Amino acid sequence: MTILAAPGLRRSLRAAAAPLRTGRVTRLVGLRLEVEGIEAAVGEAVWVRRADGSVLPAEVVAVQGGSLACMPLGELSGVRFGDVAEAAGRPLPLTVGHGLLGRVVDGLGRPIDDGPPIFDGEEVSLEGTPPHPLRREMVDRPLALGVRALDTAVPCGRGQRLGIFAGSGVGKSSLLSMIARGTDAQVSVLTLIGERGREVSEFIQRDLGPEGLARSVVVVATSDQPALVRIRSAFTGTRIAEWFRDQGNDVVLMMDSLTRFAMAQREVGLSAGEPPATRGYPPSVFSLLPRLLERAGAAERGSITGLYTVLVEGDDMNEPIADAARSILDGHIVLSRRLSTAGHFPSIEVLESISRVEPAITTPEQRALVRELRQLLAGYRDAKDLVEIGAYAKGSNRVVDRALELKDLIDGFLRQEVASTCSAGESWACLAALLAPADAPLVPAGAPGSGALDGPPATPAAPMVLRAPAQSLAVGDGGGPVATGMGS
Ligand SMILES: Nc1ncnc2c1ncn2[C@@H]1O[C@H](COP(=O)(O)OP(=O)(O)OP(=O)(O)O)[C@@H](O)[C@H]1O
Ligand SMILES: [Mg+2]
Repeated sequence: MTILAAPGLRRSLRAAAAPLRTGRVTRLVGLRLEVEGIEAAVGEAVWVRRADGSVLPAEVVAVQGGSLACMPLGELSGVRFGDVAEAAGRPLPLTVGHGLLGRVVDGLGRPIDDGPPIFDGEEVSLEGTPPHPLRREMVDRPLALGVRALDTAVPCGRGQRLGIFAGSGVGKSSLLSMIARGTDAQVSVLTLIGERGREVSEFIQRDLGPEGLARSVVVVATSDQPALVRIRSAFTGTRIAEWFRDQGNDVVLMMDSLTRFAMAQREVGLSAGEPPATRGYPPSVFSLLPRLLERAGAAERGSITGLYTVLVEGDDMNEPIADAARSILDGHIVLSRRLSTAGHFPSIEVLESISRVEPAITTPEQRALVRELRQLLAGYRDAKDLVEIGAYAKGSNRVVDRALELKDLIDGFLRQEVASTCSAGESWACLAALLAPADAPLVPAGAPGSGALDGPPATPAAPMVLRAPAQSLAVGDGGGPVATGMGS
């Protein structure tokens, strides 16, 4: 028997080589909590025991010499110099499972809706892996969102990632709730980052409603939550979406907003000692954005379609987060104040919005229709000033003439009440009927012969007449034509 085989010695050697598990809080500055005496890697959880016995979870965000810089995942109050800190030995896990459907959870994935715990859950790490670049499925199948303007003019593919660029109060949350209720995807995951507390219950009860909530998971980190919890909520939502995707589902992951996620990372980065770069955002913000956004996409089984709202102040589309998001995402939807103040909802600026996968998910007939719609909208926009001062002479431009003739119908088509949803088949049939030549016969939506325009997914269309010779348009949501949508 060698000396190393002696049991006592083996034990002491193992203990000396093992990472140190308990240490002490040595500094507390701003949001930054420094711990000495333990060894842990970036991303691992640390438990800080307050004098009153309560435990504060924290996460290691930087390692400097013998000290760990941690960010709290709860309230810092009550933490003192010398409090005991313990390394958890792994990142904080997340519980996922079918039981999450219809539930509201916090940024760490814990139910906050007074419902039961998630019974059938399994513990997973927050770090999912994005689909392998070479094994990513092509985005070549459309995903209906239930919003007419989007399903036709800015069509979304399964696994696509779209940015919704908008200022405050122009209808982002309402649009997301319409999508949660109207989409063909089996599961919606909504992550609300940095919202005011009052708005969250309003959103869940009024906008989403029981019908929308039933097939959704809502992840909430309000503005008063620690920055790290707000950041984590984005990854929690994404990881939950990944779990449902891995069960073979098509999932819509909606995040409101990416800007507040970036702001939370700015707080963390600056507190951890990073230098501020573009408009005060430290470099880590720009490396974290692709890490989050790349995780959506079409995998071998199932897909995650990502819709991320980006706040643009004063319509400054070039602010750094909007710029970074645009370069990573596969398309953008622009919501404008011009339309929302005119009462035109959803306030989608069709001419400014683009889906980069449109050619792969639409038929040539559908693309022709959208091209015509865009031409008419652009024609009206260019001639609007002349028309308003009475300087436009009818007959001088064929496109403008037709745009003026169809203006109210196009507005009626693009407008949609929050509570109403419309299948993609209905939307395409509606657009085809709307743009049919004036002497065309009546076109019942979804009638035999209009199949080429239905395109996949061919949802049965309601048997309504969309266009009469007098060009009345019945779209079935009570949203009659408004005089402002094409250009107020
Ligand atoms: N489709 C719609 N039909 C009718 N009204 C709508 C529609 N969408 C939005 N609105 C109106 O616009 C208001 C603001 O919408 P919403 O709260 O969705 O905006 P927001 O961009 O999420 O705002 P914030 O920036 O404060 O989060 C709503 O109170 C509602 O009155
Ligand atoms: Mg909102």
